[in-house]
Amino acid sequence: MKMPSITRRDFVRLGAGAVVAGAAIKSTILDSAVLAAQSPASGTGRKIRFVSIGTGIRGCDLLRAARQVPNGVLVGTADLYDMHQRAGIEAYGADVPTTRDYRALIDRKDVDAVIVAVADFQHRRVVLDCLAAGKDVYCEKPMSHNVADGLAMVKAVQDGKRIFQAGSQRVSNIVYKKAAEIYASGRLGEVHYIEGHSDRNSPSGAWVYPIAPDATPATIDWTTWLRDAPPRPFDAARFFRWRCFSDYGEGVAGDLYVHLLSGIQCISGINAAPARAYSTGSLTHFNDGRDFPDLLATLYDYPGVTVNLHCNQNNAAGEPIIFYGREATMMISGNTLTVTPQDTSPQPEGYSLNGWTAEAKQQYLKDWHVAHPEPPATLAEVETYSAPRGYDDTADHIANFFRAVETREHVVEDEIFGNNAAIACHMANHSYFHHSIATWDAAAQSIKS
Ligand SMILES: NC(=O)c1ccc[n+]([C@@H]2O[C@H](COP(=O)([O-])OP(=O)(O)OC[C@H]3O[C@@H](n4cnc5c(N)ncnc54)[C@H](O)[C@@H]3O)[C@@H](O)[C@H]2O)c1
Repeated sequence: MKMPSITRRDFVRLGAGAVVAGAAIKSTILDSAVLAAQSPASGTGRKIRFVSIGTGIRGCDLLRAARQVPNGVLVGTADLYDMHQRAGIEAYGADVPTTRDYRALIDRKDVDAVIVAVADFQHRRVVLDCLAAGKDVYCEKPMSHNVADGLAMVKAVQDGKRIFQAGSQRVSNIVYKKAAEIYASGRLGEVHYIEGHSDRNSPSGAWVYPIAPDATPATIDWTTWLRDAPPRPFDAARFFRWRCFSDYGEGVAGDLYVHLLSGIQCISGINAAPARAYSTGSLTHFNDGRDFPDLLATLYDYPGVTVNLHCNQNNAAGEPIIFYGREATMMISGNTLTVTPQDTSPQPEGYSLNGWTAEAKQQYLKDWHVAHPEPPATLAEVETYSAPRGYDDTADHIANFFRAVETREHVVEDEIFGNNAAIACHMANHSYFHHSIATWDAAAQSIKS
């Protein structure tokens, strides 16, 4: 697929916020070149008629972002909770039909595409139903609740020849695209180690979400919500805080690792499940009856690259991704990318000469300078690239999906990509809970201990 070109406005700030002492910093604000603004790609003016299933926290955010995308028009929403139904309509700002029964929407012939933002354990059923109804699907991350769900979804997308976009919006982010361009150029030198973390310590960051006072079995269709999970009486805490429970979510791996992994996949071009994962961690601060640790650290083996991730809900250290190359270090933090060159110029040995006599040292240095007559190279500038203020990668990600629905071109984050990122999340949890190294058996398409 042809990527949007990134134009840029360069300006040089010498000595500003030095990343390397004394090094010049060249800062670039990336042109948002928002895909959303470029739609419709084909120039037909046709609008993709879409519906949204699940208009809770993320579903509403998606609808707010979709308002910026000119070649899509919302024609209906579905949710099992009355207030979320109203919030979805409010988020998009148009009075469209809303229902508890999503079948009433996907059976409509005038609907092209569906945005799915239900809880993770509900993805499989809703996505398979949408695909069976002949719709193209944007499904929130993580794509799957477990390996079997992901494989079933991949098969259904491919059998039905549908367009499918997994919803890790960073894959469409202009800063990540710039990082991918730099990575592919080889400017970082060989990269064998990538690190990322997603650390936040607030109750909200640990999904201790408030329980809406109007949440009752009358306002929430609990039976339908729970139908692919073990039965239990109505439990509003589980409805709002489903991420904490393994029947419905995947803890920090499915919620947060997936963003780091999708970012790493799109920048490095790796599009495979890791060969191995080893996790450790603990549950201390948010030990409120949840199933998952509030600290998870994982080492992954990808081909030629070790990836080291952690999520710590005990400390708000942010969420950088760092690529350690022989020639440069590249870090993304928020919507800013920093490339810091490594000093790889030849240097005379210093430390180990402490055990040499003065005469031997002097001779060594004399010989070294004869062997290295060229003047030392000046260190390249530190470069930073940022998205403009207010940039919204979710709008770009939705626009990429609508464009693919219209043109039948490939999306940026298809079912294979989304499934690989999700498998890595499942491997992290498998290792943590089994106290063993998780290995991906590609032939059997399953995780082994
Ligand atoms: N990409 C991101 O940055 C991002 C951010 C947050 C959440 N997410 C993902 O978005 C998804 C939704 O998360 P959330 O925080 O919005 O959850 P949420 O619980 O706030 O909302 C989910 C909604 O889906 C509805 N729902 C469930 N089954 C349904 C059905 N059969 N028919 C109609 N509606 C149904 C529920 O009633 C609920 O209102 C999850 O997969 C989550 O991981 C992604």
